[in-house]
Formats: sequence, C-alpha cells, structure tokens
Amino acid sequence: MQIMKAKYLVTAVALLALACSLASAYDPSPLQDFCVAVKDPASALFVNGKFCKDPKLASANDFFFSGLNVPRDTSNPLGSNVTAVNVDNLAGLNTLGISLARVDFAPYGLNPPHTHPRATEFLVVLEGTLYVGFVTSNGDGNRLFTKMLYPGDVFVFPIGLIHFQLNVGKTNAVAFAGLSSQNPGVITIANAVFGSDPKINPDVLTKAFQVDKNLVKYLQKQFWSDNN
Ligand SMILES: *[C@@H]1O[C@H](CO)[C@@H](O)[C@H](O)[C@H]1NC(C)=O
Repeated sequence: MQIMKAKYLVTAVALLALACSLASAYDPSPLQDFCVAVKDPASALFVNGKFCKDPKLASANDFFFSGLNVPRDTSNPLGSNVTAVNVDNLAGLNTLGISLARVDFAPYGLNPPHTHPRATEFLVVLEGTLYVGFVTSNGDGNRLFTKMLYPGDVFVFPIGLIHFQLNVGKTNAVAFAGLSSQNPGVITIANAVFGSDPKINPDVLTKAFQVDKNLVKYLQKQFWSDNN
C-alpha cells in the first residue's frame, strides 16, 4: 500500500515536472531588460532563445526595423505577401516573446490555411475587406469561427489553430498581425501535406483524405509556392 502511494506520488511529481517543462516551451519571460540576438557565440554572454549580445554593445538599431509602410508584391499564385518581422530580422526581439507581420492582399488574394506552432496571433485590418476564420481542434468538434473584417477591425487566432484570410473586396487589402513569439513559425497546410520534401507516400494521403490516388499524385506534382 505504501509502495503504491509512493508510486502515485512519483507519477504525480513526474507529470507536474512535465507540465512545467511544457509551460516553459513557450517563449520564456525575459530574465533581463533585453538580450539582442547575436550570430557569433564567441561574443555571447548567455543563451536564452538565441545567444545574446553583450548588453553594453547594444544600440538603438538592434531594436529597429524599417519599411513596413511599403506595399509588397502580391503577383504570385496566392495573391498575398507576408512580411514577417521576427528575431531573424529584428535581433532585439530575442527572449521578448513577440513579433509582427504585414500582410498584403491583391483583390481576392488569399493567405491560405496555416498554423503558427508557437504563437497566438491578432490581426488588425488597415485597408480592404477580409473574410477570416479558424478551426478548433478535433476534441472541440473542428468548429469553424469566421468573421468579415473591415478597416479597424481586430480578430484573434488562438495558438496552433488552422486559420486563413481571404480578401473578398475588389481593392487591395492590408493587415498587420501581432504574434506572441519571437519566432512563431508557420506551417502552411497544403504545402506541408502535399509539398513535403520528400513526398509523403501517396497511400498515406489517399487514405487520410479519402480520395482517388490520382488526385493525391496530381496534388503532389503541383508547385506549392509560399507567400513569404
Ligand atoms: C513579396 O514582396 C517582395 C517585395 O515586394 C518581393 O521581393 C517578394 O518576392 C514577394 N514574395 C512573394 C512570395 O511574392
């Protein structure tokens, strides 16, 4: 009996430790004012996301990015273009748990179904009309939440959920997104499933999507371009 109790206790402690480590799998809260990312570890002080520049060597430019006022070229198959500002092009974001993006849409342009594995996103529409939505997880019944957004409207896409934005207007649309990670990551569903490298065995996709194998092979032959 005592041994059983001890086993439960060990299991409980192990689960708690796992829960804690999962909780800290999100961007950690900063342990200092900032930690400008530096590529060369030789000049690094400590690691917390990326190597950090010696704070004494940091300057305003480490926290600066310019050019998000410029509309991007949307003449690609999707008719959209995402300009991400994250720790890779704004080193001062390191350890701060936040980033942003500008999204340009041609008329009827689409930001196709995708997820950010590490970030919740909120979207602010500046110009145009966007039909946006996300789908909840299997356990929640894969419910679809959609909204028509106009300038000044804001919509939130919870972390990890598949979401999309379609410009339903006859003019260009522009939106800005805030993301709760310095490196949100993006998985475009069609690209990941049908455009993986190497290709997923067609038997897997034929059964998963309950379609003809020729359709799967056709889809796998397409060039799955991205919008960023
Ligand atoms: C996005 O726009 C930039 C600048 O306008 C362009 O260089 C880039 O190729 C575009 N990306 C896509 C995927 O169309």
